Amino acid sequence: MTLPTTQKAVLVPSQGAPAQVHDDVPLPEPSATQLLVKIIYAAINPVDVFTTQFGLLVESWPFVPGSEASGIVVKAGANAMSPLGGHFKEGDLVSGCVRLGVAGHGTFAEYCLLDAEVAVPKPQGLSLASAATVTVGVLTAFLGIFGELGIGIEGIEEGKGAGNGRWVAVFGGAGAVGKFAVQTLKLAGYKVVTTSSTKSFESVRLIGADAVVDYKLPADEIVEQITQITDGKVDLAFDAVSVNNNLVAKMFTAIPPSSAERVFTTTNDWDPVPDASLGFVTKGITLGPIGRPESAVLNKKLTTWIPVIYRLLDNGKLKPGDYSVEGQGVEGIPHAWEAQKSGRLGSKKVIVKVADE
Ligand SMILES: NC(=O)c1ccc[n+]([C@@H]2O[C@H](COP(=O)([O-])OP(=O)(O)OC[C@H]3O[C@@H](n4cnc5c(N)ncnc54)[C@H](OP(=O)(O)O)[C@@H]3O)[C@@H](O)[C@H]2O)c1
Repeated sequence: MTLPTTQKAVLVPSQGAPAQVHDDVPLPEPSATQLLVKIIYAAINPVDVFTTQFGLLVESWPFVPGSEASGIVVKAGANAMSPLGGHFKEGDLVSGCVRLGVAGHGTFAEYCLLDAEVAVPKPQGLSLASAATVTVGVLTAFLGIFGELGIGIEGIEEGKGAGNGRWVAVFGGAGAVGKFAVQTLKLAGYKVVTTSSTKSFESVRLIGADAVVDYKLPADEIVEQITQITDGKVDLAFDAVSVNNNLVAKMFTAIPPSSAERVFTTTNDWDPVPDASLGFVTKGITLGPIGRPESAVLNKKLTTWIPVIYRLLDNGKLKPGDYSVEGQGVEGIPHAWEAQKSGRLGSKKVIVKVADE
C-alpha cells in the first residue's frame, strides 16, 4: 500500500494553546511491535483536556492530542502480535487506547501508532464506530475491578464469577468507565448499586445495575439510600467519575464493615487519597502510561484481559454505550471536542468520523 508522507492532524502548539488543524504533520513509522492505523473514528475523552491544558504525560510540544480510536491497520511491525494470538496484518480492523503524550500516537489525526500488545481487534458483533468508544472505558473498568479491587476474573464469561451476590457501590454508572464497571461487576456475580443523574436511571438499570441513586442528592441522603439498598453491607466501592473521595469516606464511615477488608478504587489518581484511618484502602487506577515500554506490568495485564474483553463484546455480554458522531474529517475534531467539553451530550461518547472505511 502506498502511504502519504504527511497527514492532517490537530496540533496544540504549547500547553493551554488553542488547537489548530495542520496538513503537513509527518506520518509516523511503526516500530517492530507497533501498528500504523488509518483512523476511521476518533473518540474524545476527558483526559484530552488533561494532556493539552495541564501537559499530563506530554513529552514534547507541539503535540497531537487524542487517546482513543478505531481504524484499519495499514502497516504492521514484524513482531506486532495480536493479544488474540498471531500477527496483525494490513487490513485488520482494530481499536485502542494509544500512548498518551507521545509523538505519533495522538488520535486527532488521519493516522496513529498503536502498540500491538494493547490493541483490541474489532469484534464482528461491533461496528467500527462503537469500537472507537469502548477501549478507554472497558480497560479502565477491568483495571479497577480485576486489578485494584482484587476480584478474580475466573468464570466471568460463563456467569460463574465469585461475587456471590455481594454489593459493590459504583459511583457514576452512566459514564464511559462506569457503564463497563457496572456490567463487568454483574458478570463477576456482584450486586451493584450505582449513582447517576435521574435522566440516566433507565439506561443504567438496562445494563444491569440492581439499584440507582441520584448523584445530585445531598451526600447524607445518598449514603442513607445506599445503606437501605444494601442492608448496610457494602465493602467495595468504585468511583468511575473521579469526584467522590468525600462521598466514599462518608459512606464507609456511616456503614460499619461487614468483611475483613474494605477497598475503594478510583479513576481519580491525582487528588490526595482519603485518610487510611477511616478503615478502608484506596487504590488509584492508572491507565495513562498504557503502551509505554516502561509500563510492562500494566501492558501485560491488559494483553491478558483483551481476549476476554473481545469475546464479551462480540457475544453482547458487554454492551457499548450510546455515542454521537459530532464531526467529519480531522477538520471536524475541534468543534466535536468543544461539544464534548460542554457536557451537553451527557453520557454519550463523542466521536468524529475521520475517514470512510
Ligand atoms: N485514572 C485513569 O486511568 C482514568 C482512566 C479513564 C478515565 N479516567 C477519568 O475518569 C473520569 C470519567 O471518565 P469517563 O470517560 O467515564 O467520563 P464521561 O463518560 O465523560 O462521564 C460523564 C458521565 O459522568 C456523569 N457524572 C458526572 N458527575 C457525576 C457524579 N458526581 N456522580 C455520578 N455521575 C456523574 C455524567 O452524568 P450527567 O451527564 O447525567 O450529569 C455523565 O453520565 C474522568 O475524570 C476521566 O479523566 C481516569
